[in-house]
Amino acid sequence: MSTVLAKPPTAEPKAAPSAAEMGARQREISVSEFFTKNRHLLGFDNPRKALLTCVKEAVDNALDAAEEAGILPEVVVTLEVAANGEPAPPASQATRFRVTVIDNGPGIVRQQIPPIFAKLLYGSKFHRLRMSRGQQGIGISAAGMYAQITTGKPVQITSRTGARAATHYFEVQIDTKKNEPRIFESKKIDWDHPRGTQVTLEIEGRYQKGRASVDEFLEQVAIANPHVTLVYHAPEGETRHYPRTIQELPPQPREIKPHPYGIEFGVLLRMLHDTRSHSLAGFLAGDFSRVSTAVAQEICRTAKLSGNARPRNVHGDAAEALYKAIQATKIMAPPSNCISPIGEKAILHGLYKQIKGEFYTAVTRPAAVYRGNPFVIEAGLAYGKGPDQVAAVTKDAPAVPLAEGEDREDDSELARVIRYANRVPLLYQQSACATFKAVLETAWRNYGVAQSRGALPAGPMVVFVHMGSVWVPFTSESKEAIADYDEIRKEIKLALQECGRRLGMFLRRRERAKSEFRRRNIFELYIEEVVEACGRLKGGKLAKEKLKMQLQKIALKRTGGPKTDAILGHEGGPEGLPHSIIVTADGPEGEAPVLPGAEGSAVAPPEEARPEKTKPTPARRKAKGKAKPTRSAGPPRPARPTKAAKPKTKAPKRRKR
Ligand SMILES: Nc1ncnc2c1ncn2[C@@H]1O[C@H](COP(=O)(O)OP(=O)(O)O)[C@@H](O)[C@H]1O
Ligand SMILES: [Mg+2]
Repeated sequence: MSTVLAKPPTAEPKAAPSAAEMGARQREISVSEFFTKNRHLLGFDNPRKALLTCVKEAVDNALDAAEEAGILPEVVVTLEVAANGEPAPPASQATRFRVTVIDNGPGIVRQQIPPIFAKLLYGSKFHRLRMSRGQQGIGISAAGMYAQITTGKPVQITSRTGARAATHYFEVQIDTKKNEPRIFESKKIDWDHPRGTQVTLEIEGRYQKGRASVDEFLEQVAIANPHVTLVYHAPEGETRHYPRTIQELPPQPREIKPHPYGIEFGVLLRMLHDTRSHSLAGFLAGDFSRVSTAVAQEICRTAKLSGNARPRNVHGDAAEALYKAIQATKIMAPPSNCISPIGEKAILHGLYKQIKGEFYTAVTRPAAVYRGNPFVIEAGLAYGKGPDQVAAVTKDAPAVPLAEGEDREDDSELARVIRYANRVPLLYQQSACATFKAVLETAWRNYGVAQSRGALPAGPMVVFVHMGSVWVPFTSESKEAIADYDEIRKEIKLALQECGRRLGMFLRRRERAKSEFRRRNIFELYIEEVVEACGRLKGGKLAKEKLKMQLQKIALKRTGGPKTDAILGHEGGPEGLPHSIIVTADGPEGEAPVLPGAEGSAVAPPEEARPEKTKPTPARRKAKGKAKPTRSAGPPRPARPTKAAKPKTKAPKRRKR
C-alpha cells in the first residue's frame, strides 16, 4: 500500500461514492482493450522483442497451416526498414519495420480473413487437443494490434486458396472496444502465387543480431523443422536460404479427447454438465480417451455410483467420489498420435546442418502425461569443435596428436541451451523454463563434462530440448517458457541423461583411443631407429622392411589394434551409439545427412547411414590433418568464432554455438 501525504483539510470534503455510483462505473472489458494495456503479456514489451514476436507469430501460422493441409512448407520472411516517406536509416538504427511473411499453405477463405487477423481469441486450434504451434487464437491478431498501436497501419493480407480461386487482398484493423475487425480495404487482385497467404505488418521495432534475434529464431526454426524451406531476406539486404533436408512431412498429429488422469475437478464438473451422454458410464467411455466400457463400469463401481446415473445429476459428493475413483483406477496412458515428435533422425539432421561439432546425438522419449495432457520430450546434443578446427590443430603438430584433455582446455564457455515447444524456438525467459532447470539439474559430470554447482555444463556444447504436447503449459500468453511441472521436468531429465550417457561414452572412448594412438606414434618413431640399428649390427644383411613391418604389427596390436582407428573415426560408424553422428577429419560417421550444396564432400548418403556394426575394412588411415572439404565449402572459420560471428554469405552455414 502506498502512503498518501495528508492534504490540508478542504472546506467541503467530497462525499464518498455510494454503492450505486460505484455500481454504475462497472463495465465490461474487451479482450483487445485488456491486451492493449498489457501487451507485454503477449511478447510486445520492447521494440526488439516485438519484431521477433511478429515474425514468430506469422511463421508459426504459416507452418501450422501448411502442415495441417499436408503441404511441405515453403516460407519467405522479409524484413524491411519502413521509411515513411523519409530516407531510410540503416537497419541497426531504424525504429520502424515492415514484416512480410509469405507461405505456400492452403490459404484462407475470404470471410475468415478479417476475424483471423483483427479479432483476438479467434482461431481454429484452441478447442481441440492436438499438437500445433499456435493454440490460443491470439497470435497474429495480437501482432496486428501491436502494428495498429505503434504505427497506425492496418495489417495487409493477401490470400488465395488455389490456382483456380481468386486472390483476395484485405487491409484490416481491430476495433479494440468491441474486439471486432474493421475492414479498410477488400478487393480481388492478381498474385503470382498459385496458393498461400501473405501477411504484412508495419510495426515499431528494432533489429539487432545476436541472442534472441529474428536471425537466431529463424536459424533455430530450421534446426527443428528440417522439412521446411525457409528464405530470409534480412533488413540489411542479405538473403539466407535454409533448404529442407527431409523431403517428407512429419506425421499428422491426431485430435484426441482428454485423458482422465490429472484432469481438474472443475473441468470434470463442466464436462459432466455439458455432455450429450445419458448415462455416467457412457459419458466416461465416450468423452475421455482410453476409457473402455469395462473401465467406465469399474470407475462407477469404485465411486459407488450407478453406471446408468444421469451425468447432470452427478455433483457434490458424488462428483468428488467419481473424481477420486478416476484417479484410483488403472487407465492406459493416452495415445501419443496426437503429438508429432520431431524424431531422432530429424533432430540429428537439424543440429548437424546448423551447428559445427564432433559429436551429435538425439533422443525421443515415449509419451507421458501431465494433468491429463500427453506430451513427448526430445533432447539432443551437439558437442565439440568443427572438423576444420580440429584439423587445424592436428596439422600444427602432426606427429603428436592432441595432449590428454587438450580439447577441453578452452571449455570455460558454458553450454548453450536451445529450447522448443511444439517445434517453435523459445528465446526468452530461459531461467524460468522447465527445460533449463532440467539441464541444470542433470549431473553432467557423470558424463565427462565439467559443471559447477547450479550452473550450466561447461564446454563447447549445444543442448537441444523439445516439448511436444497437445497443450504446452506456458508460463504466460507470450509463450516464452514452459511451466515447471514435475512430470515434465522428470521426462526432460531422462532424455538429457540418455544423451549424456552417449556423450560420455564417446568422450571416454575417444580419450582412450587418443592415448593409444599417441603411444603408437611413439612406437613408430622408435621402430625406425631400431630397424636402422639392427641393420647396422647385422652389417647390412637384414631384411629391414620385413622387420619394420613385423614391429609395426606388434605396435598396432599393442595400441588397441584397428579399434583405435575406428574410435577416432578412421573407420566404421559410431558403434553402440544409436541415433548419433561423429564427425572426424575424415568426415561424418553415422546418420549424417547430405547437405544441399555440398556435392563431392565427405558426407555419407542420407538414408543409408553406414550399418552400425560394419567390419572394419583394411586399414585406410588417412594422413592426419588432411581434412576433406567440409559440408559448407566456405572460407575456413576462425578457431573460436565469437558470438557475433555470423555467416555473411547466402547459404547459411553450420555455425558454432
Ligand atoms: N497463414 C495462414 N494460413 C492459413 N490459416 C491461417 C494462417 N494464419 C492464421 N490462420 C488461421 O487463423 C487462426 C488464428 O491464428 P492466430 O491468431 O495466430 O491463433 P492460433 O495460431 O493460436 O490459433 C489459426 O488458428 C488458423 O486457423
Ligand atoms: Mg498463431
